[in-house]
Amino acid sequence: MTKQLILALSKGRILEETLPLLADAGLRPAEDHGASRKLLFDTNLPDVKLVVLRATDVPTYVQLGAADMGVAGKDVLLEHGVEGLHEPLDLEIAACRLMTAGITGAEPARARRRVATKFVKVARRWYAEQGIQAEVIKLYGAMELAPLMNLADEIVDIVDTGNTLRANGMEPRELIATISTRLVVNKAAMTMKHDRIMPLIQRLESAVAARTPR
Ligand code: ATP
Ligand code: PRP
Repeated sequence: MTKQLILALSKGRILEETLPLLADAGLRPAEDHGASRKLLFDTNLPDVKLVVLRATDVPTYVQLGAADMGVAGKDVLLEHGVEGLHEPLDLEIAACRLMTAGITGAEPARARRRVATKFVKVARRWYAEQGIQAEVIKLYGAMELAPLMNLADEIVDIVDTGNTLRANGMEPRELIATISTRLVVNKAAMTMKHDRIMPLIQRLESAVAARTPR
């Protein structure tokens, strides 16, 4: 069995924060990720490759073993589920909150609340736990539009500064989860490639600790 390690990275915002952290841990792509349309990269470490994926696909690649390790937002992991995955390290980047939000000052009117979100499973679970009847409507972006367009009473979305909500006449309501980016590892790979994976986790752990005043 090959001892090559594949680390799946989430593109976009998380990638921009992950690459400096990987560099602090001594892992660098062999070429500039922005310079081409390439998605699979060699690194400075022998037999470690990086693959850059849509954030929501990272847990799937790692769970099914196509990648050994991955970097993904906790929001994405909550929605996907963590079966077959270890989550050994909080990378403490791309911190934000997963919240409910609605039009500023508006009371949730109807008994069965209409909720627009891309986090359908998380939303269903959370409203059920609160004992609130909810009809969850799947959207793929621009959740903040849904209440303004009378598509939904509330949304479940990421909030950081709150600027996006404010700019659209909305306010945050309930906190569902605090979010940051996590390292995940395929459970079988953790056993089979333990001697390759553990040093990488340890170096990343030190890189995270070196950044965070404790
Ligand atoms: P896609 O384009 O695949 O739908 P996306 O637009 O959600 O993904 P990004 O905006 O790059 O992708 O966000 C990726 C991750 O970064 C999220 O899953 C979340 O963990 C985190 N994140 C999203 N928005 C913010 C924010 N405003 N501040 C901090 N972290 C955020
Ligand atoms: C994310 C998220 C919110 C916004 C929250 O969107 O979906 O819309 O950030 O951040 P804020 O509270 O600081 O305004 P992003 O900027 O990633 O754009 P997206 O619509 O492409 O996800």
